[in-house]
Amino acid sequence: MNLIRRPRRLRKNEPLRKMIRETRMDKSSLIYPIFVKEGANMQEEIPSMEGQYRYSVDRLPYELERLAKVGVTNVMFFGIPNEKDECGSQAYAEDGIIQQALREAKRQFPDMYYSTDVCMCEYTSHGHCGILKGKDVDNDITIELMAKIALSHAQAGADMVAPSDMMDGRVLAIRNKLDSEGFIDIPIMSYGVKYASAFYGPFREAADSTPAFGDRKTYQMDFHNKKEAIKEVLLDVEEGADIIIVKPALDYLDIVTEVSKQINVPIATYSVSGEYAMVKAGAKLGYIDENQIICEMATSAYRAGSDIYITYFAKELAKFMDEGRIG
Ligand code: PBG
Repeated sequence: MNLIRRPRRLRKNEPLRKMIRETRMDKSSLIYPIFVKEGANMQEEIPSMEGQYRYSVDRLPYELERLAKVGVTNVMFFGIPNEKDECGSQAYAEDGIIQQALREAKRQFPDMYYSTDVCMCEYTSHGHCGILKGKDVDNDITIELMAKIALSHAQAGADMVAPSDMMDGRVLAIRNKLDSEGFIDIPIMSYGVKYASAFYGPFREAADSTPAFGDRKTYQMDFHNKKEAIKEVLLDVEEGADIIIVKPALDYLDIVTEVSKQINVPIATYSVSGEYAMVKAGAKLGYIDENQIICEMATSAYRAGSDIYITYFAKELAKFMDEGRIG
């Protein structure tokens, strides 16, 4: 047949397929989330997230070492305190769990890059992401506290802060606070687009942060909306966000693409706990090929326009990249 255009020509063999890959990734763009919990000598598996653990500060360095070994150098800390109260005071306590973890991690692995989740839901007795007024979170009081939390993380050694509360104006409040205390160089990676999602289910078990009543729909976004995502990111960038997170990943890649067209700051996609749990469960049942799915999920996030990928599969991905399986 006289067929001049044959797309299959470029799929002939592996070297050629690799040569023409349109999406390139690198380990340096992976961020691994780690749960740190008060206590000692503890590495507790999270039941709904097989293979993920809560570490006490003394056990944390072992995990950092494992990460460093495979070339994952960026982590994001989530804290699980012993004491919770109405106003989440352990979130900004000088000897709070994140603050302790940062000091220890920085001491032992000074070359890794430490981001922190800045939020209150793990620290409040009611499990909401801020200070309550009646049954709802009060925006303007909460952002003052968010700024206080971010500052205390910076003081304890955080390289970057990542506010995940979805209150209005919190990026500006944090920027002003950090700047006024001399932390002008600490970037803000804002969870600019965070949908109210059932995909966070396993995380809430992991971090013990399920709201005691109601849901997060007055602050996290309605998953029907796309234009609203643009509104949110434009505001965050205007307020000084250096990097924007879109979250969850898997079902929100259209948002990643749209956001990447609209703004000129780096975009991080967060593949959340529910995505991890689904892959693990499916693999356990023998229904899917876990490693292949991990590769496809990561690649799709980058292909959609993501520059950074936050994932519980960071170690596996680093290995697959080394092997040339993806990347
Ligand atoms: C804290 C926070 C959550 C996640 C990241 N930061 C939970 C939530 O908003 O309920 C979810 C991460 C995941 O599911 O992996 N606000």
